[in-house]
Amino acid sequence: MSEAARLMDAAIRLSLRGLGRTAPNPNVGCLVVRNGRIVARGWTQPGGRPHAEMMALEAAGAAARGAELYVSLEPCAHVSPRGPACADLIVASGVSAVHIAMRDPDPRTDGQGAARLGSAGVAVTLGTGEAAARQAMAGFLSRIALGRPRITLKLAMSIDGRVSMPGGESQWITGPEARAHAHLQRALADVIVIGRGTLEADDPSLDVRLPGLEDRSPRPAVLSATLDAIPASAKFADRDPLLLASVDDLCGLAVNDVLVEGGAATASTLLAADLIDRMLVYRAPVVIGDGAPGAGRIGLERLADAHGRWRLAETRALGNDRLEVYARTR
Ligand SMILES: NC(=O)c1ccc[n+]([C@@H]2O[C@H](COP(=O)([O-])OP(=O)(O)OC[C@H]3O[C@@H](n4cnc5c(N)ncnc54)[C@H](OP(=O)(O)O)[C@@H]3O)[C@@H](O)[C@H]2O)c1
Repeated sequence: MSEAARLMDAAIRLSLRGLGRTAPNPNVGCLVVRNGRIVARGWTQPGGRPHAEMMALEAAGAAARGAELYVSLEPCAHVSPRGPACADLIVASGVSAVHIAMRDPDPRTDGQGAARLGSAGVAVTLGTGEAAARQAMAGFLSRIALGRPRITLKLAMSIDGRVSMPGGESQWITGPEARAHAHLQRALADVIVIGRGTLEADDPSLDVRLPGLEDRSPRPAVLSATLDAIPASAKFADRDPLLLASVDDLCGLAVNDVLVEGGAATASTLLAADLIDRMLVYRAPVVIGDGAPGAGRIGLERLADAHGRWRLAETRALGNDRLEVYARTR
């Protein structure tokens, strides 16, 4: 790995700190580097401001003059009521070179941020670490490309694909390591969705119960066309839960990442509408037999139509269980 690739990789890793908290803005990471040493770091703050560049430049102060900047997304070119354009801030800081992992597809920037830097005499490189940056900002990029958040479906299932016992009991199918990993995924999402059936069967807390990340619980949401309000008795009632009357309401959320935690009816409706971008399957070494499947009818007529839609993106052991991550091929 070249020095530039290594530094960009560090900036992209930094960007992950904002995941699940920066919407509607992207989660960006930024480093100020002087003579090969990192002198300041920034990442998009909760609510989307300050931007990563502003945080890093403020931390760098006078050390920014003549330094190089590594940033995971093209600096913005638009002034908003919430803050200045990062491209202008960078020019004013006296930075001599800016390395950008990827162009910002947001039409308010889309090449104009880099152009403004270039015309002010700042050296600009584009594309180092682009694939990793795309992955780190997949939710934001989904909003720009598809007009909706990235939607991830989580399923905890048996070897034979069952998510609950015939009577509905489902806690717990997987072990502590898998459940901790699933909690981390919650921390990285803006909103967590369940169907009314899961609310009534399990009354889940939908929070993050990992040491140090307790304040990272995503906003809970319930999908239901019949509920008038989320019952005040729900365990998450004090976290300003959303009631989504339809899939359109879900797609219209102004957030980057939505995590769906079931149940089967909700999974089916989203799979049938081809709205799932990623599946996290936590598979436990148990056979349940008669019990509820992970999804019901999704409108498939022929087996051939089921093929070619999903790619195994990652798999690994988590204690006695196995995580399989599937990505929708689009
Ligand atoms: N192992 C696991 O990973 C896991 C995870 C979660 C749940 N579970 C289990 O799954 C079971 C519950 O699953 P379930 O299939 O019965 O229920 P569910 O999917 O949680 O909820 C179904 C309800 O969601 C609403 N809904 C679904 N699609 C909708 C749409 N397109 N528009 C509007 N509302 C929609 C409807 O509510 P209205 O009828 O009010 O409109 C529907 O009745 C429980 O036994 C639970 O323990 C297992």
